Amino acid sequence: MPKPIKDVLPYIAYGGDYNPEQWEEETWYRDAELMQKAGVNLVSVAIFSWAVLEVEEDVFQFEWLDKILDILHEHGVGVCLATATASPPAWMTKKYDDIPAVDEKGIPYSFGSRQHYSPSSPSYRKGIKKIVKALAERYKEHPALKMWHINNEYGCHLSECYSSYSLEAFHHWLQEKYKTIEALNKSWGTNFWSQRYNDWAEIDFPVNQATFYNPGQKLDYKRFMNDQIFDLYLIEKNILRDITPEVPVFTNFMYQFKPLDYFQWAKELDVVTWDSYPDPREGIPYRHAFHHDLMRSLRQGQPFLIMEQVTSHVNWRDINLTKPPGTMRLWSYGGVARGADGVMFFQWRQGRAGAEKFHGAMIPHSDNEKSRTFQETAKLGNELKLLDSVRDARVKAKAAILMDWENWWAVELEGKPHNGLSYMETLEAYYKPFFDLNIAVDIVHPAADLSEYSFVVAPMLYALTSAEAEKLENYTAEGGTILFSFFSGIADKHEHIHLGGYPGPLRKLSGIYIDEFVPQSEEGRLTFVKKGRQFSSSIWADVIYPEGAETVAAYETGWLAGIPAVTKNRFGKGTAYYIGTAPEERFLKEFIKEISEENHVIPALKVEDGVEVSEREGEEEKYLFVINHNEYEVNVKLAEGTTYYNMLSKQNISGKEALPAKEVLILSYSK
Ligand code: GAL
Repeated sequence: MPKPIKDVLPYIAYGGDYNPEQWEEETWYRDAELMQKAGVNLVSVAIFSWAVLEVEEDVFQFEWLDKILDILHEHGVGVCLATATASPPAWMTKKYDDIPAVDEKGIPYSFGSRQHYSPSSPSYRKGIKKIVKALAERYKEHPALKMWHINNEYGCHLSECYSSYSLEAFHHWLQEKYKTIEALNKSWGTNFWSQRYNDWAEIDFPVNQATFYNPGQKLDYKRFMNDQIFDLYLIEKNILRDITPEVPVFTNFMYQFKPLDYFQWAKELDVVTWDSYPDPREGIPYRHAFHHDLMRSLRQGQPFLIMEQVTSHVNWRDINLTKPPGTMRLWSYGGVARGADGVMFFQWRQGRAGAEKFHGAMIPHSDNEKSRTFQETAKLGNELKLLDSVRDARVKAKAAILMDWENWWAVELEGKPHNGLSYMETLEAYYKPFFDLNIAVDIVHPAADLSEYSFVVAPMLYALTSAEAEKLENYTAEGGTILFSFFSGIADKHEHIHLGGYPGPLRKLSGIYIDEFVPQSEEGRLTFVKKGRQFSSSIWADVIYPEGAETVAAYETGWLAGIPAVTKNRFGKGTAYYIGTAPEERFLKEFIKEISEENHVIPALKVEDGVEVSEREGEEEKYLFVINHNEYEVNVKLAEGTTYYNMLSKQNISGKEALPAKEVLILSYSK
């Protein structure tokens, strides 16, 4: 059994990716001293070190890593030891021609960048087993070893492979799934366009076809690739579990990453970690707050770690905006507020050579302790030491947004009534009101237990099973409130339509019937009216016929005039709302506020616009985070009669508190 993270890390984790192999030995000592000054307690080592650890096949060179781990340990810095498998070395890539992944056109990727391996390569699979075993055996007793960092951002650059090895594995995967070719034919609907198969060997990849792909084939390829990459993770995990059963393992997830079903993956991680790179030009980072909430929800509220972020600027956007002074600190607290128990960076020391030399780091090229970057780094690291007690405290959300990777894959396949639908943008549109209103929200799978939630939002739940729909019915019948958006309840997981009128298995629950969709052109704007107030919408309109639901808002525009745009249906002890269009932001904010208030789903504290509030609950105390993203000071009115402890200024406060621009209040108080 792996140790609980709160025991492994008795502090808020602070540090970053550390690549000592890129530096001379004398720098290692300076690094360790600077880490102490900066309050660093954890670093990720050896992420891209395969070539310097296994210098030739079966020839391992661990001495440098031994030394690094010893130095770090002597300086009180723990290590997330990476398994080094994210980039197989040149000798291996040249020696075994099954290693490179192959692109859609059948061209193998060449060596010289990173992550060029095929997930189906037998030699890669053999290679990772050897290096992971060797690392685990060597360092299993090392006192610096805190956790295992498996690979790095699986799928980040390559999440598809079209090699002959992948095709063989695809056939195998399909056989496992369908058992008979007839079952596959049924699932893929191959009587359409003469697509029937007599044998598994007749099946190709869904690439380079004359026109539209078979949706079943495409969906299964996505599922297969997700599973194939996941399998790599499991190979490593199982070896590590055998040799170091008590050491937690994880891999680092990414932002908005469509190819990998993180709900599936998270079950096999001991802690969710993710790499967070909001673009400063986007202003208040609500999208990345959405991802914090997702990462927290992936393991039912267990705190996560921000495994990477940047102090200043990245180097992979066209123009890499720098985070202005104070922003890195503010956004880091935004993560802690939503459940992060660790704030780490890519990377510790800014590189001298290689493709990432202009990427920001905790120590800039100047190596100057007085630099803004290092000062901000050290300030945050030393402040976080005051927050030990926040660890493991939970965000208790009464609202949830449903999210499903399978649905994401299906709804964005080609051949839809509107081919500009973006599942992620839709989720974000429904998330933003919760962020703006400071209402805590979890992001959960449609099949999850929803009984803890008073209000559930299901945006664009296009592909869902009848069993999932039944769960949503039961949730509502028992008193829950649910809100659906357009294009929900349309297909099953084979992407076969639920016949008999939309929204299929949600028809009874929503109390409406839809016979046709009315997609809008780019310029198309609809207007609808709710209680005498006009709102606009775009992209889509459902032609809704109420079957028991009441009309909350109806269109004014053209031939749709009078048709409901928004409906409300009493169902058992609960209520189901349905929005048949993509409304303007103002409407969604008002509507979500109204429904939340009706259901007593309220923020932990009422504050001005531009101020973010999130609360975590520990065993005895609550921790209230108030983050002022504005360029001006605001007044924060605290709950009457409560005395709070300001964890950063170490003072008791109550009543009103002035919160300067770009500042944060972290307040603990008794439950
Ligand atoms: C991450 C990756 C790191 C580094 C970083 C730069 O995606 O895991 O190795 O490349 O991006 O932002």
